[in-house]
Amino acid sequence: PVPTVTLSHGTALPRLGLGTARMTDDDAERAVGRALDLGYRLIDTAENYHNEVGVGRALKGAPRDELFVTSKFNKRWHSVDGVRTAFEASAERLGLDYLDLLLIHWPNPDQDQYVDAWRGLIELREAGLVRAIGTSNFKPAHLQRLIDETGVAPEVDQIQLSPIWAKQQDREFHARHNIVTEAWSPLGKGSDLLDRPDVVRIAEEHGKTPAQVVLRWEVQLDVVPIPKSSNPERQAQNLAVFDFELTDDQMATLSALDGTGSTPADSDTFGH
Ligand code: A2P
Repeated sequence: PVPTVTLSHGTALPRLGLGTARMTDDDAERAVGRALDLGYRLIDTAENYHNEVGVGRALKGAPRDELFVTSKFNKRWHSVDGVRTAFEASAERLGLDYLDLLLIHWPNPDQDQYVDAWRGLIELREAGLVRAIGTSNFKPAHLQRLIDETGVAPEVDQIQLSPIWAKQQDREFHARHNIVTEAWSPLGKGSDLLDRPDVVRIAEEHGKTPAQVVLRWEVQLDVVPIPKSSNPERQAQNLAVFDFELTDDQMATLSALDGTGSTPADSDTFGH
């Protein structure tokens, strides 16, 4: 079984999960079904992926208490009542009566209603409809505002993170506030990360693949990666990162790749 980390409100979060961004309903149903067979328990979807129905079909029949299902809602729901409606719609599409983790998908600071969304999530958690609550793509300044205005910190912040966008300041802020960092695009999609000579060499030293080395670097930093794959072999590969350990030198070599990639996909969303 995949090891877990306990979130600040007590829920056990698997230390690696399956992402489903850009999968259609049918793709997601197949990919999630295979992933569950392989031993994945954390499945990450979103309203914005338009595949919760497909994900839900794959979850049918699996023991609910063994699953950890995450979804996220769009900016139109950034109000206390809106979040309740967003939850009900996601749960209905997924065929679930509670979610393990629900996230504000983006802060959308222009709209400036993410604190209201956060109050809505706090109410959902109090009502027992979601086990854990958090954010996605929030920077420390956004998180600080939630803490200042509500006194409640998110349990998770899911951000774009990989060795070439290592987000050390975000991770330090998270650690200070007991927020678990989740990584989307943990394999550095859109970059040449998996072909970098340092990554390839370290992989050879362990008899592992470059993807496994990158995911292991994240796990050793206490980051929870959510690699997306529709391919059963790569899904299995990505899960097999709990049986080897990178040395301090190897960790440092990978960390030194920070900032050597092109502009990250999340950069334009935070221009202010
Ligand atoms: P595939 O689904 O064919 O495996 P993202 O960064 O958005 O999470 O996307 C991950 C991308 O990396 C996908 O295109 C996925 O393609 C690919 N991928 C997933 N696992 C591996 C792996 N172990 N080795 C190489 N590529 C991978």
